[in-house]
Amino acid sequence: MDAEISLQVDGRATTVTLDTRTTLLDTLRDRLGIYSPKKGCDHGQCGACTVLLNGRRINSCLVFAVAQDGASIVTAAGLASEGELHPVQQAFLDQDGFQCGYCTPGQICSAVGMLDEAARGDPSYVTPNRADGSPPGTAGGSPEGTTSGSRATQSPELPDDEIRERMSGNLCRCGAYVNIVAAIRQALEGDQVGGHTGRPATDSAIPQSANGMNQPAGSGTGQIAGGASQSGVNRPSGETGQPG
Ligand code: FES
Ligand code: FES
Repeated sequence: MDAEISLQVDGRATTVTLDTRTTLLDTLRDRLGIYSPKKGCDHGQCGACTVLLNGRRINSCLVFAVAQDGASIVTAAGLASEGELHPVQQAFLDQDGFQCGYCTPGQICSAVGMLDEAARGDPSYVTPNRADGSPPGTAGGSPEGTTSGSRATQSPELPDDEIRERMSGNLCRCGAYVNIVAAIRQALEGDQVGGHTGRPATDSAIPQSANGMNQPAGSGTGQIAGGASQSGVNRPSGETGQPG
């Protein structure tokens, strides 16, 4: 069974007709020619396919594209703004946070999403326990400084074990973890080696032009209208992406 869906991908509106069983990852890569998200495991285990869906990081291999009709998607290739790298992208370059680069687009999207989560006060598994002893992320208790049982209102500190835990869904087969953590710390602290000031790392990852949800067909720039035969965009993979 086929269905037509509309997506905003890296600020560009597109419409595609696809089999309803098609994952978002396969839609991006095989139908839209966007190769920044990588297919590593195709089972939600490696994070290479991570993109930002309506501003939140997800494994694009685990969601059906048809369920995301009207969504805004940002890949690592779409994070740069007006020729300026996102601070997380710049930090990965400054800190040599990659070797082969296959995992890097997913690492960067995940880091951007993770920093937003931390800025919102979302706890991780290793966030220190609450005053009542209940572990973070559970519904037990109303710890000091929180308004609900599941979220702290204060942004948690992000020591390296917090960064490692929050990034634990993204594997790097080259083992570049030490520099990945350093890159995220640079982005977090604004300690840019190259003197590049850039945007705050926790700025919205969604470009202004991509903020509109459920835009009618033809309302965005670069609209790709029509069905399967018209869906190829062949966008470049971007500074961190590699076709393949
Ligand atoms: S390809 Fe999606 S998590 Fe590995
Ligand atoms: S840099 Fe090679 S897999 Fe991470």
